Amino acid sequence: MLHAPSSDITGFQHPRAMLEPPKYSREHGTVSDHDLQLQRPFPERDQGDDRLEEEEVDEVVLEDMKKLEDTFPGISDRFRLVNRIGEGTFSTVYKAEDLLYDQYRNDWDVLQGNSGDGWGNPLFKRRRVEGENGNAMLIRRRKPRYVALKKIYVTSSPLRIQNELELLHDLRGCRSVCPLITAFRHHDQVVAVLPFFPHTDFRLQYRTFMVADMRHYFRSLFTALHSVHKHDILHRDIKPTNFLYNPDLREGVLVDFGLAEREGSEYTGTCLCTSTSSMRRTRYTQSYHYIQCASSGLAVGYPKSDSRPSRRANRAGTRGFRAPEVLFKCTSQTTKIDMWSAGVILLTLLGRRFPFFNSADDVDALIEMASIFGTRRMKNAAAMHGQIFDTNIPTIGEKGYSWEKLVKWSSCVEELTESEKQATRLLAGLMELDPSKRLSAKEAMQHEFFTNPIDHDVEWGGPEDSADSGREDERDKGRDEDDDDDEVDMV
Ligand SMILES: Nc1ncnc2c1ncn2[C@@H]1O[C@H](COP(=O)(O)OP(=O)(O)O)[C@@H](O)[C@H]1O
Ligand SMILES: [Mg+2]
Repeated sequence: MLHAPSSDITGFQHPRAMLEPPKYSREHGTVSDHDLQLQRPFPERDQGDDRLEEEEVDEVVLEDMKKLEDTFPGISDRFRLVNRIGEGTFSTVYKAEDLLYDQYRNDWDVLQGNSGDGWGNPLFKRRRVEGENGNAMLIRRRKPRYVALKKIYVTSSPLRIQNELELLHDLRGCRSVCPLITAFRHHDQVVAVLPFFPHTDFRLQYRTFMVADMRHYFRSLFTALHSVHKHDILHRDIKPTNFLYNPDLREGVLVDFGLAEREGSEYTGTCLCTSTSSMRRTRYTQSYHYIQCASSGLAVGYPKSDSRPSRRANRAGTRGFRAPEVLFKCTSQTTKIDMWSAGVILLTLLGRRFPFFNSADDVDALIEMASIFGTRRMKNAAAMHGQIFDTNIPTIGEKGYSWEKLVKWSSCVEELTESEKQATRLLAGLMELDPSKRLSAKEAMQHEFFTNPIDHDVEWGGPEDSADSGREDERDKGRDEDDDDDEVDMV
């Protein structure tokens, strides 16, 4: 549990920290003479210069940052707040300069490294100054090292906050997963300190992403997911804003473990999907629905006063990215739920639409899925988890559409390139309704999309068009072409 209130910023201590000080911890990190020797030659910083390079900050943000400084007395001795960089449902994230970087062992800093900055800037900046005799001299100055301070809202339960920090601690050293440097608390306010990762806003890049870019993006995302899943951890909230992708480096980092959980930790009963198919069939043929409705041809409905307790399952996640088994309240959810969400990102990139799914609630989300997969598959998917799916919406057909057809309609192109077709085959493996048949992160990385890539890439919208030109018109055309004759079995 979190520490008792204190009047100053207090280091968050992992329960195991007392026995085995984590190496990343600034509280426990020691600075050896060797480190000092390495660092001493470049002691001065020219913060003035770097501040000029920094973005202008909004008045409201300045006030907000001031509040944070007031809440945490002493924080300004350690960090210089630079800007607000993220505001999510559960936290506000600030960019800050790590003022005491040199005084700690920075084992977490694998990306900025000692050889220069993979993610930010070079370690040292050269600056021309005038020497005593008037000659120009080049001096090396230490670049500021940035961190991200994630202020977790007090509305999050202490257990949730502890869970997020513990999982991050367990995942330290995993490639493409954001390391936790340390955390501190003042009363009920908790701040996690993370390395700052420069990245590009997904909304700016998704329309211009070539298939080759998608390959880099997903190689990095699957690397992260493979590490996370190897630890039997479900992230639960895979979506573009939680994967900070840097197109220059062609790498990203997975952040936000606020909803993550260990597989099986929220046990509310074993779902039917873990039984054999013959057992599932028996259960179905004995069900009230089968006996009263399906076999007798009666219209499907639902009991008006159902005395059974409602089914409970973890449904945490983001609208549009939830896997079908989450929507069907499966009680045996696995790491495959993250693979579905990764599939939704790929569909967004291939279909050039963000957000791709836009449902108001879970029922709406199931209808969106049904309009792609068709009712037959949705019924099977529901039955797998002991649920019934039915709809009388006339535009939803029985068979659904192929992924290729869908990607073509969505991106408004007549034909897909061979590389897009290959990416679409990966998409089919990710957006598979049955989680047991869905690709794992490891299997996804072994897909032909990565092992035998087809490099025939053309810029979307035609070589002469800018990525934005005519998009709306073409998209509308695509929409008009929808008709039931195109219905085919899924690939
Ligand atoms: N380490 C980081 N480096 C740079 N930006 C970050 C970092 N961590 C978070 N952010 C920014 O802050 C946003 C919100 O952070 P996140 O951890 O997802 O919090 P929330 O739980 O509120 O969604 C992210 O989408 C990203 O834009
Ligand atoms: Mg987030």
